[in-house]
Amino acid sequence: EKGGFDHFMLKEIFEQPRSIADSMRGRVNADEGHLQLGGLRDYLDKLAASKRIVIVGCGTSWHAGLVAEYIFEELARIPVEVEYASEFRYRNPIISEGDIVIAISQSGETADTLAAIELAKSKGATIFGVCNVVGSSIARATHAGAYTHAGPEIGVASTKAFTAQVTVLTLMALAAAQRKGVIADSLLRQLLAELESIPAKVEKVLQAAEKIKEIAYIFTYARNFIYLGRGLNFPVALEGALKLKEISYIHAEGYPAAEMKHGPIALIDEDMPVVVIATKDSSYEKVVSNIQEVKARKGRVIAITTEGDTQLPDMVDFTIEIPKVHEILMPLVSVVPLQLLAYDIAVMRGRNVDQPRNLAKSVTVE
Ligand code: M6R
Repeated sequence: EKGGFDHFMLKEIFEQPRSIADSMRGRVNADEGHLQLGGLRDYLDKLAASKRIVIVGCGTSWHAGLVAEYIFEELARIPVEVEYASEFRYRNPIISEGDIVIAISQSGETADTLAAIELAKSKGATIFGVCNVVGSSIARATHAGAYTHAGPEIGVASTKAFTAQVTVLTLMALAAAQRKGVIADSLLRQLLAELESIPAKVEKVLQAAEKIKEIAYIFTYARNFIYLGRGLNFPVALEGALKLKEISYIHAEGYPAAEMKHGPIALIDEDMPVVVIATKDSSYEKVVSNIQEVKARKGRVIAITTEGDTQLPDMVDFTIEIPKVHEILMPLVSVVPLQLLAYDIAVMRGRNVDQPRNLAKSVTVE
């Protein structure tokens, strides 16, 4: 049932080229610039007309929400707030009729997220769901939504659900932008075509698995890790750190790279591995200077770079190359090496990767 892999988590990481394609199947036609999400049909006007979107979720689903925040704001020009479902529900959130809430959940059974939905509903919000499990409690509690179609995810550490969530949320943002009339047809077509090329690019990252294993071996006994990224790669840094801590039990923190100088830089010394997502995008030069700050304090840098980058290999300790990707879609590819790195380190430490201590696949208690 693990399809020849040692763990479900590894199988699910390797399934991503297919699961990302599945999450787009029947929804995208790049040649015709056509995009359709059946479960949104009756509510797309409402989404496109909304003045504000609140996204709720927990853990990895919350990280997908942070990615979606950038994408909705950039493409659909709708202000977005992303909230931990548990925080949202325990205050008196300002939600009024006409507000849109998007709830993200792989399992569709997370108690905090479900309670946040009920609260927002009682205040008159329209609720969209992005769930993986068909017919789950959250899917049933929403007004509209789009399933991620990633297939069953068994490993407690969420991997393919994340990339499917980001894919579907990107499609939702594109659909809203198109309906609102704020996206050029050429950009829409370009992004749809780029989306269709993502599975092959993820496949390419998976071919670096052996190299990632060698790097993991070197850092197996690290006590701490820092993950840095900017823009759309900031939530990816958070996700990389979460993967590592939940399955290897190594303390890891994710930060926006520019926040380093406001505190975390004090942690850097020769024993601190720092994973930096330093792909060629609009913040590349800034990230390069953040790397220099880390190197000046003898931190050990593992950089995720865009293939063909000749500058970073000379500056950092290790590089993992990923293909060139449109900046908006970067997280779909840049997260994959971080999933593998966390997996390898956890295996080398002898951890129970699919069922880490103290964790359950779905958290149905408050
Ligand atoms: O099923 P959900 O997406 O609602 O679950 C949310 C979190 O509990 C979940 O993402 C958790 O953080 C994972 N173990 C992360 O890998």
